[in-house]
Amino acid sequence: MASTTSIVIFGASGDLTRRKLIPALLNLYCKDRLPEDWRIVGVSRSPMSDEEFRSRLKNGVKEFTPEKFLQSQWDSFEQRISYISGDLGNIEDFQKLDQHLSKEEHSEVHKANRLYYLAIAPNLYPTTILNLGAAKMVDESLGWKRVVIEKPFGSDLQTAEALNEIVHSVLDERQIYRIDHYLGKETVQNILVFRFANSLFEPVWNRNYIDHVQITAAETVDVGHRAAYYDGVGVVRDMVQNHMLQLLSLVAIEPPASFEADALRNEKVKLFASVRPLAPNEVETHTVRGQYRGYGQADGVAPQSQTATYAAIRFYVDNWRWQGVPFYLRSGKALAAKATTISIFFKRPPHLMFPLPLETRLGPNELSICIQPDEGIHFSFQAKVPDTAAEMRSVDMSFNYQDSFGETRIPEAYERLLLDSLKGDASLFTRGDAIELAWGLIDNIISGWESSRSNLYLYEPGSWGPEEADQLIAHEGYGWSMGCLEK
Ligand code: BG6
Repeated sequence: MASTTSIVIFGASGDLTRRKLIPALLNLYCKDRLPEDWRIVGVSRSPMSDEEFRSRLKNGVKEFTPEKFLQSQWDSFEQRISYISGDLGNIEDFQKLDQHLSKEEHSEVHKANRLYYLAIAPNLYPTTILNLGAAKMVDESLGWKRVVIEKPFGSDLQTAEALNEIVHSVLDERQIYRIDHYLGKETVQNILVFRFANSLFEPVWNRNYIDHVQITAAETVDVGHRAAYYDGVGVVRDMVQNHMLQLLSLVAIEPPASFEADALRNEKVKLFASVRPLAPNEVETHTVRGQYRGYGQADGVAPQSQTATYAAIRFYVDNWRWQGVPFYLRSGKALAAKATTISIFFKRPPHLMFPLPLETRLGPNELSICIQPDEGIHFSFQAKVPDTAAEMRSVDMSFNYQDSFGETRIPEAYERLLLDSLKGDASLFTRGDAIELAWGLIDNIISGWESSRSNLYLYEPGSWGPEEADQLIAHEGYGWSMGCLEK
């Protein structure tokens, strides 16, 4: 039986649809990667004709990704886009949508596959999922039905558990695709290839050789116009619970037996279960929270807001491989540069036969994985400075995507994630149990901050965050790495 695939976007009039989803789908279309006989159906409250909806999307592509716009491609792409207005709280609107889809799908002669994408406010997830169930729109007897859920998935462990319960009352876990767009980034996927497709690194990837790991996700943007979402949420829920813990897991997991969704996700769950939760009295010593000066005056932010826009955290992973190795995570808004980097610091040689000038220490070997921008990997090691007796200097061995892969453009994260959800590959999506474990780690930090009323350090916009964060990492001459920014 031939099959047909409907991509249904709830929240179709929103920004995510215009900025990310449609450009990604257009790109997949141009690369001929969409499934046979596909269509996109946008759903949101506002009444709009198909033409109005298409022209809104077209303007979005032209505005946000002009390099992807080609009139002739758009003309054929938009033929397959339609729009239907509906209220997500109203079951009859779901039935109307179902009829609209069935008519287009000709389900008597086709396997009718459907991808429902929830590009809506998180408080609408439960109603939408329950209504999809009540309208019998996730029944798989006539083709697969999958639901993509955007972040945030809950705002703490309790709400994430409650949401998982609702989702599981309607859907099987294998039908659920929880997005973390960092996992769609090419450089993030390359962490696994780097670790497990080379034989050189894995033997030294452990506590015997690694001193510590630093993961930085720095942003120059401030809260901008997002106060309604961001204030009260803050950096730990916005960046650490999802993106940064995912990066940590990819650096630290054991090799999965196969590159298959559950094999990979089982390893991540094992890893998250081994991260040592911070006890309430440890939060003060293992974390630093900051807020950029002027945040309280930003549009929509409560003037006395205690929301952290910066966090630095020291985690330990209690397992055989990582016992005693600190993992330092830091992320913040309004910082000096936009850069996401993972730096692995190897231990210094146990004995040094070369004389060093007084009060200097040998620089350690540092492996920097540059997630963005300037995607690449760098390895620094000591070399003898020519024409000296034994003077040494740190030099760099580099891999740079641009140099090695030239014209091959690094695709947007959403392109890969949409393609995988259409293909049914959930490897790059977060499973329910992992999300709950991650929230467990974060809840401890947030409640520690709230209960101890620990210091909220102010930092200057455009700086590297509060100085107190430097003390968190300072041991044996180490400090925060400028990693990829220096390369
Ligand atoms: C989002 C956060 O998930 O990730 C934003 O909500 C943040 O606050 C963004 O700016 C960062 O993503 P990227 O891909 O630009 O690093």
